[in-house]
Amino acid sequence: MSSAVAARAAVPHTGLTTRSIGAVGSSPAFSAPIHKVAASPQNLHSKFLPKVQQVTVGKQNAARIAMSGERSYKITLLPGDGIGPEIIKVAVDVLKEIGSQEDIKFSFEEALVGGAAIDETGSPLPEKTLEICRGSDSVLLAAIGGYKWDNNPSHLRPERGLLGLRAGLNCFANLRPATVLPQLVDASSLKREIVEGVDIMVVRELTGGIYFGNPKGFGKNEKGERTGFNTMIYSESEIDRIARVGFETAQKRGGKLCSVDKANVLEVSQLWRERVTELGKEYPDVELSHMYVDNAAMQLIRAPKQFDTIVTGNIFGDILSDEASMLTGSIGMLPSASIPESGPGVYEPVHGSAPDIAGQDKANPLAQILSAAMLLRYALNEATAADRIEAAVLAALDAGYRTGDIMSAGMNLVGTKKMGEVVLQNLAQKVVSR
Ligand code: IPM
Ligand code: MG
Repeated sequence: MSSAVAARAAVPHTGLTTRSIGAVGSSPAFSAPIHKVAASPQNLHSKFLPKVQQVTVGKQNAARIAMSGERSYKITLLPGDGIGPEIIKVAVDVLKEIGSQEDIKFSFEEALVGGAAIDETGSPLPEKTLEICRGSDSVLLAAIGGYKWDNNPSHLRPERGLLGLRAGLNCFANLRPATVLPQLVDASSLKREIVEGVDIMVVRELTGGIYFGNPKGFGKNEKGERTGFNTMIYSESEIDRIARVGFETAQKRGGKLCSVDKANVLEVSQLWRERVTELGKEYPDVELSHMYVDNAAMQLIRAPKQFDTIVTGNIFGDILSDEASMLTGSIGMLPSASIPESGPGVYEPVHGSAPDIAGQDKANPLAQILSAAMLLRYALNEATAADRIEAAVLAALDAGYRTGDIMSAGMNLVGTKKMGEVVLQNLAQKVVSR
């Protein structure tokens, strides 16, 4: 595959991923190595800047912009469930504000996904939603899921909507950063000296592996007992394209790539390791290592600073990115990007829909705001606007504002709306750096 594709996909610097329901209300952090973050938000980003920053949308828009001189973008909004509508509203306000200041036009179209879509249309991902997404420049998703749909049959579960969206848009590369922000270092459940300076990027394969492999289903064994089964399968081309994203991401970061597998047991992992090793020859500047997933889970807690970029398959990436996010203290701070080879990508917080605090003005909107910043940076190539939003978020933290998930002694506890207002004020004041 072309390196442009990999480069395109290889980028984010902030957030991470996971949608553990309820996590937003009860967890802490997002991170970047102190020495790199301290100077300015620009510094925070520089090492993640892609060689080719032009994501698909950029291409789609190029003609339009060239003709009109206008930067105008169609954004699909997928508020989803739980706290989704509250936090996406804050992010849209932030986008509107930055748009008016930076002369960027956004047109927003909202569509249904997850539980909200099930209730309204009987499907977790209505065809119309996919159509709207495909016709837009980028997708901003909030969160899906909730108790209400927890006992639905699998085709009627909100998660199905999310998986269908990833598959439907071919978003094969999921970038989940775990960066410990100096402001939030004490929000981590691990000791300061373990997490201070942690800056990891998990590159997770998102449209293959055991999540999508066939055969799958329920059956009966020879004893007549019911069985359930899934298939963990990767083709060479699937491994190669995600591995390239991993290598190119590492090139732009600390130059270290750790490929995580279970090659001591699984054939699928043996092929994975073989391909990644082979491709490694094309990236002599990247220090490649391999680690079994069980060991990786342990090392992430024991000595997380040994990691720079991690590349792994769908299910291992699901698990390890949740774990990595907790190093940072708050999953409520972590954005993520799911990027296709072409077409619109999906930008979303790592956290879930937190139905336990939905509608109570308690959710942390910062991961959603940072996801919007990632969208600007990586999908629309609007780096200045992204920098400014990130600076405004850091300034809100510097000023001591905290939602419940990242609260600590002496700080100012605020709700979703107030946190959004503070970020907007910082934007209006054109906060540059700290
Ligand atoms: C995630 C989530 C999803 C996944 C679920 C909600 C389907 O855990 O994005 O990490 O397993 O990929
Ligand atoms: Mg997950």
